[in-house]
Amino acid sequence: MEYQTILVEQRGRVTLVTLNRPQALNALNGQVLADLNAAMVAFDADPGQGCAVVTGSAKAFAAGADIKEMSAQGFADMYGSNFFAGWEQFARTRKPVIAAVAGYALGGGCELAMMCDFILAADTAKFGQPEIKLGVTPGMGGSQRLTHAVGKAKAMEMCLTGRMMDAEEAERSGLVARVIPADQLLDDALKTAETIASMAPLAVLANKEMVNAAFEMSLGQGVQYERRLFHGLFGTADQKEGMAAFVEKRPGNWTGK
Ligand code: HXC
Repeated sequence: MEYQTILVEQRGRVTLVTLNRPQALNALNGQVLADLNAAMVAFDADPGQGCAVVTGSAKAFAAGADIKEMSAQGFADMYGSNFFAGWEQFARTRKPVIAAVAGYALGGGCELAMMCDFILAADTAKFGQPEIKLGVTPGMGGSQRLTHAVGKAKAMEMCLTGRMMDAEEAERSGLVARVIPADQLLDDALKTAETIASMAPLAVLANKEMVNAAFEMSLGQGVQYERRLFHGLFGTADQKEGMAAFVEKRPGNWTGK
């Protein structure tokens, strides 16, 4: 597959996706969206791939949606085309996707990172929703996902002032899983992805699905949903293998069945 705005590389069972519009600090235009969605569909469909890492450059994960592409659009264009709705496909990727963020993750860049399953941040990372400075609001889910991640007080302050949050504050606030020295970010993200990709594939899907259910369901429904998925895994060969491997003190040999 040929991509114009991203680089895609398979490293064993890990797919590494690098945003590659350095001249625009990886601003997310329609082509980036099309490329990312195509890459994620291919990743999901490939049984040889278990986890993806999405990253940018040392200076910018992504500096936002492409302001130059949007600036002349009117309401009819935006509403008529349901602008940004295509990002829902990215967010529906079934296998885990890690965001490895160095430098700026602003506006749509922060929103893209939050669409991934978790964020690993370089100590240089800066997160923000500065759309208010452009006379608009987040449009790719930022007001919702940021509020889920860091709570109302910080999300509201960031959306209303456009101020950036550094990596340390982002970790303290629950926006990122871990902060890593910038020169080790990619190695760490790839190792983390390898760990995930080495697990039983159906259990990986089920774990991702049930954690995400926590954002859509009441506690009671979510606990029930978890239990049913858990029960379902007892119909898989990999559950028998995983538990036998534990008893026999050896690593599991997964079939994805
Ligand atoms: C298009 C962008 C861009 C963006 C940067 N560039 N961000 N182009 N869309 N979001 C371009 C610049 O125009 C410039 O191109 C080149 O990238 C380098 O950027 P500089 O500004 O020269 O770099 P620097 O001075 O280091 O400043 C870095 C920065 C700044 C602080 C990240 O670029 C910035 O504030 N960018 C915009 C951040 C933002 O507002 N993001 C939210 C966008 S709206 P040239 O051709 O001049 O060299 C959004 C959500 C949309 O994401 C929701 C609905 C609107």
